[in-house]
Amino acid sequence: MTSAFPHRHLLDIERLSKADIETILDLASRYAAQNRTAEKKSARLHGRSVVNLFFEASTRTRTSFELAAKRLGADVINIPVEHSSTQKGETLSDTVLTLDAMHIDALVIRHAEDGIAQFVAPLMKAHVINAGDGKHEHPTQALADALTLLRHKKKLDGLTVAICGDVGRSRVARSNIHLLKKFGAKVRVVAPPDFISPDYKKFDVEISHDMKEGLRDADAVMMLRVQHERAGGGQNLATGDYAGAFGLTHERLKYARPDAIVMHPGPTNRGVEMTSELADDPQHSVIREQVEMGVAVRMAVLDLLLSA
Ligand code: NCD
Repeated sequence: MTSAFPHRHLLDIERLSKADIETILDLASRYAAQNRTAEKKSARLHGRSVVNLFFEASTRTRTSFELAAKRLGADVINIPVEHSSTQKGETLSDTVLTLDAMHIDALVIRHAEDGIAQFVAPLMKAHVINAGDGKHEHPTQALADALTLLRHKKKLDGLTVAICGDVGRSRVARSNIHLLKKFGAKVRVVAPPDFISPDYKKFDVEISHDMKEGLRDADAVMMLRVQHERAGGGQNLATGDYAGAFGLTHERLKYARPDAIVMHPGPTNRGVEMTSELADDPQHSVIREQVEMGVAVRMAVLDLLLSA
């Protein structure tokens, strides 16, 4: 723990202060610059070990945590859950205590259950990083998104951000809302009524069921994947109907500000959340930059938690 970052774990955005987030983003922005040079590797976390324990599919989050740790000189182990003892009935507590007994320094965990990072953190000596827990939070994705927004818009205060799609099932949306609201951005959630869960009433966000109204004057449009794997309860709008009403096209993007950026945490379903042409349009789409910033923020988080 450093005095600059007074937390043992990174469990969510909700409990971070604005200053905590600024500390992470400042360091991440330095790592982003370093990552574009040939000298992207250091020995800052030499001798530390980071374990990735992912109970859900992941390409970018898992890989970027691994790259981030390796760029800082740490050792990384990825646990293939399908071959781990959880398949033999071991409880999650026993799994994490087993890893802790091996003196790991950080556990990066992704799980389908809300609150799982919060549950394991007090059991462990290692630092715990939430890489996505159910529908609750995905803090490092929101940090990557904030850094991307800052690079394009210079500030978050006063921005209008439209978060569109399957918000009810989205931990990315919840983490982004917590972060953006702390920095004074206006957030508009745009989705069919079935895709918005009751907890959205507690957030200070505008809710819209129409893309034209929802995108009005937006500085950034954040699209979310329709999470069929979390289906349950009447959220089964046919894909074609969904794309027709809520898919982002160049035409619809005209409702937003002319310089609006288009974001997506990935994985993208081309032709559903947005057209391929828009996803690949360098004038608006910052999707790959979000991935790039993802490595930088994960380096910053690992550094702040582990370098003390
Ligand atoms: C998201 C996730 O898993 O929460 N992806 C990501 O980490 N970049 C969103 C999703 O699965 O749609």
